[in-house]
Amino acid sequence: MLAEFPGARTSEVDLGWEHRWRAFHQPVRIGPLWVGPPWEEAPGDAVAVVVDPGRAFGTGAHPTTRLCLELLLGEEPGSVLDVGSGSGVLAVAAAKLGHAPVLAVDVDGSAVAATQANAERNGVAVEARLFDARTAALPRAQLALANIALDAVEALSGRLDVARVVTSGYLATDVPVLDGYRPLRRHELDGWAADLHARL
Ligand SMILES: C[S@@+](CC[C@H](N)C(=O)[O-])C[C@H]1O[C@@H](n2cnc3c(N)ncnc32)[C@H](O)[C@@H]1O
Repeated sequence: MLAEFPGARTSEVDLGWEHRWRAFHQPVRIGPLWVGPPWEEAPGDAVAVVVDPGRAFGTGAHPTTRLCLELLLGEEPGSVLDVGSGSGVLAVAAAKLGHAPVLAVDVDGSAVAATQANAERNGVAVEARLFDARTAALPRAQLALANIALDAVEALSGRLDVARVVTSGYLATDVPVLDGYRPLRRHELDGWAADLHARL
């Protein structure tokens, strides 16, 4: 194999490297929610969301995930569409907070698998589907959660059929515009932003 890469060198990999990333997956508390890894114990008073992200994005610690969870906490329970579910952290949190049904979609197969595994781990009903939200028809829901990126959020414009939508995945200097929706609330953290929009 190395013969195919002239000049390439090998080096020893530190023992235990595969466990060291765990140091970065620390639990976070957002109001009543506790989001943490399977190897930590949730406090007894918390609504626990146990997340093993695998290769997908979403431990709960990223500012955009935290901001989406903050805005989710203010919403009445109803049907949810999680666009770009990653580890499933938002979908599982929504289900734990009493939202139903919860449909989670992602364009990445490993994210769909992680979302399914995390829903089972938490004992909640979340349907996870492989789906490109830029092109596929978006199912109707009461609330959409879309922590994707500014261009992907704006690609949802004019195609969403939800009463309210939480968007994130962009910087505080960015302001997404969604046709047919008005901005209601913005939360910011560490230079990132999340917005709650309501249908006009
Ligand atoms: C920043 S992660 C968010 C993960 C999780 N929802 C969270 O809040 O931590 C964005 C996710 O969106 C997915 N994604 C990006 N573009 C997408 C698209 N067009 N359709 C569906 N999923 C998409 C990515 O694969 C990734 O898993």
